[in-house]
Amino acid sequence: MNRTRIACAIAGAALAGMTAASMAADRPDYGKREFDSNCAVCHGRLGKGDGPYAGMVDTKGGADITQLTKKNGGVFPIYKVTQTIDGRFQVKAHGPREMPIWGADYLIDAKDKLASADTPFDPEVLVTYRIYALAEYVSRLQAK
Ligand code: HEC
Repeated sequence: MNRTRIACAIAGAALAGMTAASMAADRPDYGKREFDSNCAVCHGRLGKGDGPYAGMVDTKGGADITQLTKKNGGVFPIYKVTQTIDGRFQVKAHGPREMPIWGADYLIDAKDKLASADTPFDPEVLVTYRIYALAEYVSRLQAK
């Protein structure tokens, strides 16, 4: 390991430590908050697919989202999860989708929020942030 890589590793570890410490403090957990208000109705608070609406929409048994890491050889499929949540870029050939297209909703929201901003800001940045916060929370719901 050369010097730069060691420095990066230390910076990374410090950052990880900071994240853990700031999460322990009373910082809002955006991913959890978003999940509880938008996703738990179908997926259940712990992601097991047992939300009150689950039986109405989930005909294929796909609402349990605690097994994604297990089904992907022990690696959380972050990209697939973010794309599934977003939904705007999914191929129609994959069949009918029972999940709402969150990316479209979040874009409308982001444009609203930024409408009165002084500086031009790409609303997609807010959409991406929201979706990744959710995906990170879904990663914490994975079965061990
Ligand atoms: C109206 C019910 C409903 C809501 C609300 C909902 N989902 Fe889903 N979700 C489903 C169903 C049903 C599936 C199974 C695939 C399908 O039929 O589209 C699914 C699939 C998924 C998958 C993919 C699972 C896999 O096996 O690859 C993820 C990840 C996911 N949802 C995350 C979320 C997140 C995050 C939210 C909140 C922003 C959310 N869902 C809100 C119904 C819902």
